[in-house]
Amino acid sequence: MAVRNAGRPGVFAIRDVSTLVTETHEAGHELKRAVSASQLTAMGVGAIIGTGIFVVIGQGAVMAGPGVILSFVLAAIACVFSALSYAELASSIPVSGSAYTYAYATLGELVAWIIGWDLILEYGVSVAAVAVGWGGNLNAFFDAAFGFKLPHAISASPSDGGVFNLPAVFIVLAITFVLVLGVRESARTNMVMVVVKLVILTFFIVIAMFNFSTANFHPFLPHGASAVTSAAAIIFFAFIGFDAVSTGSEEARQPERDLPLAIIGSLAICTLFYILTSIGAIGISPASKLTGDAPLADALHYGAGITWAAGIVAFGALVAITSVVLVIMYGQTRIFFAMCRDGLLPTRFATVHPRYGTPARLTIGLGALIVILAAFVPLGQIVELTNIGTLFAFILVNIGVIILRRTRPDMPRPYRVPWSPVLPILGVLFALYLMRYLPWLTWVRFGIWLLIGFVIYWLYGFRHSRLRNPAAEPLPAAPPADTAEGRGSDG
Ligand code: ALA
Repeated sequence: MAVRNAGRPGVFAIRDVSTLVTETHEAGHELKRAVSASQLTAMGVGAIIGTGIFVVIGQGAVMAGPGVILSFVLAAIACVFSALSYAELASSIPVSGSAYTYAYATLGELVAWIIGWDLILEYGVSVAAVAVGWGGNLNAFFDAAFGFKLPHAISASPSDGGVFNLPAVFIVLAITFVLVLGVRESARTNMVMVVVKLVILTFFIVIAMFNFSTANFHPFLPHGASAVTSAAAIIFFAFIGFDAVSTGSEEARQPERDLPLAIIGSLAICTLFYILTSIGAIGISPASKLTGDAPLADALHYGAGITWAAGIVAFGALVAITSVVLVIMYGQTRIFFAMCRDGLLPTRFATVHPRYGTPARLTIGLGALIVILAAFVPLGQIVELTNIGTLFAFILVNIGVIILRRTRPDMPRPYRVPWSPVLPILGVLFALYLMRYLPWLTWVRFGIWLLIGFVIYWLYGFRHSRLRNPAAEPLPAAPPADTAEGRGSDG
């Protein structure tokens, strides 16, 4: 299988878009197109609603007071423009790899690598944060249902006074196992979990309506308007995931129609639930008391004194967060798969397991790395790093749309962002705006992460890239695997 360089030499070599689409069909590395629009939307909702609304909301509420409701609106607006850009690129370049692949087709190999490396923050690292949120809600559930909590030593990271976070480790290992066994189980399970999470949030909103105190809304902006933006930069985490839909684009039945529908649809559904949930949360509890590892459940338990409802919400959070771990880990394996297929990471990992039909090696390796992070790093730090990485990816995706419109004006675009380049530019500006409100230490960590990425590229990807050295490293023979089979046939 030859990989065509569209003409630019060196590290700015660009993958030709049409070749990108056709070549994935060769050599047994093709994923079957079996995923429907509703399944893609479920993937989106599955990836979006989790630790953000069940845990990180507390951090936002403490920062902005009741104004956190506006923070959700602001973060949603910031996402919409980028979501449209994702939709255009995903529908025009419906192959695995998300922003990484789009960048390869528009901004060149080096930028693609940097995005792929950056996406590890959005996907791999965020799974660790999400898993930590799962642990917090497990304790809230035990507390409400049985009146006990796991010892702090085995349910918190060292910097939070514990030794390691056992529940977070457990959930990552469990999902790794599911993903290795096969997507058939994963898609069906995801659909059930999505329904459960929407029902549980509705339940929370209804309970909140019956225990509502309007006094909690005064003052509305106790820390000023800028605190609303700072909180938005944090609770932006709650929106991460709609772009995970695009990582399934190679498996979409009708990518041109289904991808934009699923990306925008999942974002709209989640925004509605977030605004109602945040109003409900402030209605039940003063914003300053929405603290701890499971603020929604705790607000019901200790604020309103409705223990049984707290148990139900904590249980719902566990289910919701499980599906986030599932979809985001799935997305990360597919991005790695694309990077391995291109030779920027070792091609020998771009194989599918002969029995399970999944990229088992990749999945297990990834699971092992995430386990370490989830065990030892506190939630807050991972959330900020994930957010800055994701916003950076958004910027590059928006720029990608603008560039591709100029360089490939005639390329078929089943979905087009309206008023381009105005909306993509707004996407860039909103992402920059939120990034500016993240702590400087997060910027430093992000800079170091990118630097490490550059070094790895020079040491490995630069030499092994199949785009610039087509003959260098052939793809390993793969069985005619069908990792998507289950997605199409269930759920
Ligand atoms: N949006 C995802 C969550 O909140 C990452 O868990």
